Amino acid sequence: MIGNLAKLSYVRGVSQTVASGVKAAAVPVKLEPKTVVAGQTPIVASSPNCSLPRNVVRVVTGIAATGQIRLAHTDIRVPDFSEYRREQVKRPNAKNTSADERAAFTYLMVGGAAVSTAYVAKAMVSTFVSSMSASADVLAMAKIEIKLSDIPEGKSVTFKWRGKPLFIRHRTAAEIATEQAVATATLRDPQTDGDRVKNPEWLVVLGVCTHLGCVPIANAGDFGGYYCPCHGSHYDASGRIRKGPAPLNLEVPPYEFPEDNLLLVG
Ligand code: FES
Repeated sequence: MIGNLAKLSYVRGVSQTVASGVKAAAVPVKLEPKTVVAGQTPIVASSPNCSLPRNVVRVVTGIAATGQIRLAHTDIRVPDFSEYRREQVKRPNAKNTSADERAAFTYLMVGGAAVSTAYVAKAMVSTFVSSMSASADVLAMAKIEIKLSDIPEGKSVTFKWRGKPLFIRHRTAAEIATEQAVATATLRDPQTDGDRVKNPEWLVVLGVCTHLGCVPIANAGDFGGYYCPCHGSHYDASGRIRKGPAPLNLEVPPYEFPEDNLLLVG
């Protein structure tokens, strides 16, 4: 319930009664109205039980309700911002038409902010996505081209490919015949020689021992292929494990012969 406004010279009061939901525990007491003369000490009241001015501030309340009286000064000067206001908005009783005139500027500012935001967002996303792709040096090593005429027959040459050693072996006719004649049933990791080479003259394998990752030695071991000295694994000239603790054949990477005399690995 909103009460009367007090019209004092320094303060303005508003009373408000809020139901508290508490039942009356005692017989209501009648409050004697009191008079406060305007211009004297301002009223500070937080309860209907305080002294209230008669005919100036009137609070109607009950025992089962909580009362509030809020007083505020009316003698505080408000700063004058007229100099900073547009002419069109100074008159409170006239329609403001300047918003239409400023629309173009508003649209320009909003559009400019939107374009800038989109540009910054795009730059951030591209930077983030490109940071996840492979670096330039890794991409450069993704594929390797090897000129085969530089590798003499019977020799195995080691290259570096994607951070690993890569064995390219130019096999002799005798090696080819020997490896093709091996019975796969006798192998730990059964693969025919034809499964492991695209051109019988060229063996392309990773030089990483399948036991614990040592680099085997070419043209060594009991089978004339590769020998890993770390724990004694022997591979044949087709890169197949023939003896020792290594469980698998040497890995064959993806490769092709795009031209005669050219090998592309990767
Ligand atoms: Fe090659 Fe153990 S790492 S045999």
